[in-house]
This record gives sequence, C-alpha cells and structure tokens, in this order.
Amino acid sequence: MDWKRLPTINATRVFLRWIAEEDVDALYRIFSHTEVMRYWSTPPLADRNAAVKLLHEIHDGFRCQTLLKWGIARRTDGALIGTTTLFNLDLGNHRAEIGYGLDRAHWGKGYMNEALQVLLAYAFEDLALHRIEADVDPRNTSSIRTVERLGFQREGYLRERWQVNGEIQDTVFYGLLRPDWEAIKRTFNRSS
Ligand SMILES: CC(C)(COP(=O)(O)OP(=O)(O)OC[C@H]1O[C@@H](n2cnc3c(N)ncnc32)[C@H](O)[C@@H]1OP(=O)(O)O)[C@@H](O)C(=O)NCCC(=O)NCCS
Repeated sequence: MDWKRLPTINATRVFLRWIAEEDVDALYRIFSHTEVMRYWSTPPLADRNAAVKLLHEIHDGFRCQTLLKWGIARRTDGALIGTTTLFNLDLGNHRAEIGYGLDRAHWGKGYMNEALQVLLAYAFEDLALHRIEADVDPRNTSSIRTVERLGFQREGYLRERWQVNGEIQDTVFYGLLRPDWEAIKRTFNRSS
C-alpha cells in the first residue's frame, strides 16, 4: 500500500473504491437510515453536514493510517451503496477490526458478502494481516449471519460495552484467523 489512495478492488457485481466528495449524498442517505444505524456505534447522521464531516474523518483516518474505509459501489454505474472498513489497524500485530454497512434498499442480495470476500482477501494477502476482528451487537442477527458466513468464530461476549443514543449495548466479539480464511475461501471458490 503506498498510502496515497486506497486501491480499487473488484468483485463480481460490486467494487470497492475511494469515497469522494460526490458521494456525500449517498453517505447521508445510507447512514441516516434508522434501520442501518440501529446497532451502529454512533447515532444516525443528523443532516447532510454530518455526512460532509464523516467524509473528512474518513480521509483524515486514511492519512493517519488508522482507518481504511472503502465505498462499496455497483459495477453497473459506480453508485455508492455501502461502505466497508478496516480500522484499529495494528500492522505490528498483523490485525485489524472490520466494519460494514449497506444501503437499506440493497439488503438481502449478497452484495456485502461479495464485498467482504474481496476485502478479506486484500487484508490477508496484500496487507499480510493474520487476524481480523468484528464487534457485533448480539441482537444484530443479519450482521452475525454475515460474519459467520465468512468463517468468523465467536470468541467472547462483552457486557455493556457501548452507550449509543442513551442505550447500553453488549458486544459479541468475532475473530477470523488467516488459516480459517484459507480454508473457507476454498469453499467459496468451489461454489462460485
Ligand atoms: C449487516 C448487513 C450488511 C447485512 O446485509 P445483507 O444484505 O443481509 O448481507 P449480504 O449482502 O451478505 O446478503 C446476504 C443475504 O442475501 C441473500 N442473497 C440473495 N441473493 C444472493 C446472492 N446472489 N449471493 C449471496 N447472497 C444472496 C442471502 O441468502 C442472505 O440472506 P440471509 O442472511 O437472509 O440468509 C446489513 O444488514 C446492514 O448494513 N446492516 C446495518 C449496518 C450494520 O449493522 N453493520 C454491522 C455492524 S457490526
């Protein structure tokens, strides 16, 4: 990684790309939706200015090498339909945490699974990470299905770890090791 820009990563129906100024409206639409934000670690975006601020935070995080947030875009027209993130990047210990969110209109089509398969391949193979972690609200069943489908293993339950919008939330903590990934990715290749 040359740390000038995130690489574009292609999947079948979507691709991962740099998030730019022209994506602010899509960011606002996606991350102001109450269902998308129900189990997020911050409240829904209040207005378009909050999306502009988010974009600046994304670019600052990239400059500081602490946050790699890709836009998930449709291959047909390049429109932003979600984001996926590697954060708490610890290159010394070869680990990072993963985050992801998809436009409500695009749930249930397998787009996130596709996006995360290529993100994980990039994280393990190009960034040489050994371990990826996911912090999920135990009530967030679609997110739990998302990580378990990718081979993540449940490693622990952390009580009352978050306070968002006045609500105290637990965490179920998942981990995916590179050898787990090597094994499960062979099954993805066989089924595709
Ligand atoms: C978590 C989240 C990304 C999951 O979205 P999703 O659409 O269910 O996930 P995928 O894109 O992988 O799609 C998988 C679903 O699409 C279905 N599907 C339909 N067509 C498919 C295809 N061609 N390929 C694969 N799956 C397909 C699968 O059967 C699966 O449904 P199921 O979970 O009911 O069995 C979404 O719910 C979300 O954005 N939530 C809000 C943000 C959030 O909570 N993020 C996580 C914080 S920890």
